[in-house]
Amino acid sequence: MELRGWASFPDALPSFDTDAAPAAPHELFAAWLTEAGAQMLAPHAVVLSTVDAGGAPDARVVILKDVDAAGFYVASSAESPKGQQLAKEPRAALTFFWPGLGRQVRVRGAVTACSPKVSAADFRARSEDSRTEGMVGRQSEPLAAEDDLVRAAAEARARVSADPELVPESWRRYLLAPESVEFWQASHDRRHVRLRYEREAGGWRRQRLWP
Ligand SMILES: Cc1cc2nc3c(=O)[nH]c(=O)nc-3n(C[C@H](O)[C@H](O)[C@H](O)COP(=O)(O)O)c2cc1C
Repeated sequence: MELRGWASFPDALPSFDTDAAPAAPHELFAAWLTEAGAQMLAPHAVVLSTVDAGGAPDARVVILKDVDAAGFYVASSAESPKGQQLAKEPRAALTFFWPGLGRQVRVRGAVTACSPKVSAADFRARSEDSRTEGMVGRQSEPLAAEDDLVRAAAEARARVSADPELVPESWRRYLLAPESVEFWQASHDRRHVRLRYEREAGGWRRQRLWP
């Protein structure tokens, strides 16, 4: 396949004044996310990378549920492969890519499960379809026949409709507390601008990186 001709970024790219970057990474992240949201679908879709019991990496797209000074929040079933991986090795990476702005953000850090109350609130805030899917469970298990899914989904739908407050015990909102957050701004001359925040006692150290 000839892929060389495909463009990665638009002709006009934002500049990135790293000297003006805020002291805490979540503030810059919120600004970049807002700009991405103004011009593309699913700016909050993010690759979540984990490590399995054998030390092999695994990755999948999830939705960022929130971000604040404590870190980045995602949600899933604790029984899913990613949930099991996080239970055994509670460290992860998040990778955001916003091609329309030529931007990437990389986050690494420790992951903890939020309280049952916070996880339940996350689940109850989901749409009925989404709660039904969550109630079906068995995420990533082999599916032998479509009928099995149709039956399980119908049963789950009936339970969710009868009790909108229902929350599966396995539902988790997770917090990734960043140790490092890197902001990458593409430049057509390939002198991409990179700024990494690293956690240090009482705050964040900011450092430019070679492209
Ligand atoms: C745009 C998008 C958003 C997704 N959001 C979530 C999510 O928030 N939580 C989740 O568990 N799976 C989400 N998924 C599905 C995951 O990518 C994945 O298929 C599923 O969680 C099973 O992953 P696992 O086997 O590694 O646990 C999303 C997929 C896409 C494409």
